[in-house]
Amino acid sequence: MAASFELAITVTCVLLLAGACRGAPDTELQVGYYQDTCPEAEDIVRAAVSDAVAEDAGIGAGLIRLLFHDCFVQGCDASVLLDPTKKNPFPEKLGAPNVHSLRGFEVIDAAKFALEDACPGVVSCADVVAFAARDASYLLSGYRVDFAMPAGRFDGRRSNASDTVPSLPSPSANFTQLVDNFAVQGLDAEDMVVLSGAHSVGHARCSSFAGDRLRDGADIDPSFARSLRRRCNDTSEVEDPTVSQDPVTPAELDGQFYRNVLKGRVLLASDAALMETKEAARMVRESAGVSGRWEKKFGQAMVKMAGIEVKKAGRRGEIRTNCRLVN
Ligand code: HEM
Ligand SMILES: *[C@@H]1O[C@H](CO)[C@@H](O)[C@H](O)[C@H]1NC(C)=O
Ligand SMILES: *[C@@H]1O[C@H](CO)[C@@H](O)[C@H](O)[C@H]1NC(C)=O
Ligand SMILES: *[C@@H]1O[C@H](CO)[C@@H](O)[C@H](O)[C@H]1NC(C)=O
Repeated sequence: MAASFELAITVTCVLLLAGACRGAPDTELQVGYYQDTCPEAEDIVRAAVSDAVAEDAGIGAGLIRLLFHDCFVQGCDASVLLDPTKKNPFPEKLGAPNVHSLRGFEVIDAAKFALEDACPGVVSCADVVAFAARDASYLLSGYRVDFAMPAGRFDGRRSNASDTVPSLPSPSANFTQLVDNFAVQGLDAEDMVVLSGAHSVGHARCSSFAGDRLRDGADIDPSFARSLRRRCNDTSEVEDPTVSQDPVTPAELDGQFYRNVLKGRVLLASDAALMETKEAARMVRESAGVSGRWEKKFGQAMVKMAGIEVKKAGRRGEIRTNCRLVN
């Protein structure tokens, strides 16, 4: 199974030709990378995340997602943070999967501001994104998702909205499409299933799922679908209402997502698709069951995702002064 899966990745890479295939995530990053150059770095980031999450747990969800959307588009290089400029009017953050959706940018700014004060020009924005996602996971899980995040990424200079749609998975994707999408990044089916557990926190806009999921005959619990229809129909206050991804423990990062999948109580077609194959359904049941098991795997998969196509110092990599602008 593992061997045939690797073969499938190789074949995919050959089909997509060099450049399109990211291959195995980077392993040169180091835990404690800033120990000598900026010993307070990780504490500074954690303090900023902790302040923000205390005020609004949803921002923590936003930070976990930010790492995913950074890493899947041009690698983990903080390209998602760049603002539009005259020279580059359509950066990633204006791409369809990101605009009016990503949140947490101000937390990255606050952390970076404090870091530039403590150790100017040392800590990359890409590492801040990775630390912040780790810290948000730790805080939202009640400290159960507890892992070390290696660092040493450099910040990229390219950010183009048109890179987002081809790289990020669609919420209407089926299981095969999800697996293929993650394989391009060097992540396997289990990584995909494990990382999808992030949908136990935060929210989704009705526009992200309503069409597919609320139609008659969709693979969803009927009473859950009714409550979503009601909620999404109420546009008296906002044009595009949001709904918690996890109706049971909406602000806790936990294995509840998998119990929701088993009951047909998830928002996205891509979440429901995790029951499409026997193998995936087994992984869902495994994560839904024994407590502590998914938490550990989630940390490992986050580290793997955070190693996608890391940039080094040089032509393609720098340490930005302001996370929203290239130097
Ligand atoms: C498997 C493929 C995935 C698809 C198709 C997908 C799609 C989506 C969509 C459509 C939303 C709602 C966005 C909105 O309406 O504003 C969302 C939210 C979210 N996603 Fe995913 N996602 C996937 C995987 C992941 C992964 C790997 C992570 C992180 C490890 C993640 C973390 C989140 C979080 C935390 C939210 C809530 C964000 C917030 O409340 O601001 N997702 N996702
Ligand atoms: C972004 O990518 C598109 C499509 O590849 C290209 O036409 C456009 O020139 C790019 N924009 C920038 C600023 O590089
Ligand atoms: C998944 O979607 C693709 C593209 O729409 C389609 O070609 C494929 O047959 C689907 N696979 C399954 C198992 O439904
Ligand atoms: C949606 O709202 C409209 C008007 O407010 C109402 O007539 C309709 O019955 C609602 N539909 C559902 C599914 O709740």
